[in-house]
Amino acid sequence: MIERSPIMVTGGAGFIGSHACKALSDAGHLPVTLDDLSTGNRDAVKWGPLAVAGLQDTKAVAAALQAHGVRMVMHFAASAYVGESMRDPALYYLNNVGGMTSLLAACRAARVDKVILSSSCATYGIPDRMPITEDTPQQPVNPYGRTKLICEQMLQDYEAAYGIRHVALRYFNAAGADPEGELFECHDPETHLIPLALMAAAGQRGPLEVFGSDYATRDGSCERDYIHVSDLARGHLLAADYLETGGESCALNLGTGRGYTVLEVLAAIKQATGVAVPYRLSPRRAGDPPMLTADVSRAQRVLGFKAACPDLVQIIRDAAPSFGLNPVPEEADAQIPA
Ligand code: UFG
Repeated sequence: MIERSPIMVTGGAGFIGSHACKALSDAGHLPVTLDDLSTGNRDAVKWGPLAVAGLQDTKAVAAALQAHGVRMVMHFAASAYVGESMRDPALYYLNNVGGMTSLLAACRAARVDKVILSSSCATYGIPDRMPITEDTPQQPVNPYGRTKLICEQMLQDYEAAYGIRHVALRYFNAAGADPEGELFECHDPETHLIPLALMAAAGQRGPLEVFGSDYATRDGSCERDYIHVSDLARGHLLAADYLETGGESCALNLGTGRGYTVLEVLAAIKQATGVAVPYRLSPRRAGDPPMLTADVSRAQRVLGFKAACPDLVQIIRDAAPSFGLNPVPEEADAQIPA
């Protein structure tokens, strides 16, 4: 019987962190959220205590770890906008690398020796071969990706010197929302494709700009691997069990292994909601790799992880209520007018 100890979730009031809290709670763990609520939402903290503190406040973080008897941390709290990281890299080094340094100091003070890191496919940069394996060289092309790579490297150094074991989970494109409707997607500002396209479909903003139509892909638009946020959350749960049962430190891709282009995403939104997304073709967005898809075999081998909901139409059905759209039920698919 695995001991179910409290697990700290930094950024537990945020989009992916709150879904992880729900998954932890459902599995019998106690998620202890640490969040400064700068971008997180207090109402999303429903499954355990909330400590309101910034990561940089090492003493407060260590006190929260000790107060709740935490032995493992899931670290989500970070700045995560690629474009913003190009304009203001100092913010990213401060929040992501400074935050990690402080968090790990608190972990050492509180004798926490297991960490699960939110890393990113942004650490790979623009690889020339698909799908991306964990051995694909990590050559990030923006400060956001570089800060995540530094966090991974810090964990390797801290393991060698201080014995902190870790799993770095390299997410592909997180999408969707809690299928039971207890959590919603809400970013400010919103920059991600599926939320922006759903907002355009709901008439909450003008036509979606499709960034680039001349890539060497099936239809000229960029291809990404969209993974349901509840699958990401489950990946964390499996990583927690893996570390608790003595698993060795590692880095793992979390994706579905299947890519969809931007235009295919828009078609899936029409299928999932019955509403066509108004859009116009625009120039490429600087720094966008043409294609990012995951080789998911290592996560399957090491954790037994496989996306339970790889179907993009279902991912969008779950996301739609966050933007005031009613999903079209699966059985009604055939009745959608062309
Ligand atoms: N896109 C559009 N129009 C938009 C927004 C996005 O065409 O208005 C396109 C992008 O060009 C891209 C795709 O939709 O091809 C997905 O874009 P997102 O901004 O939703 O996601 P990214 O792939 O750029 O970013 C994601 C994560 C980042 C992470 C990155 C790694 O959100 O945190 O993957 O490459 F760093």
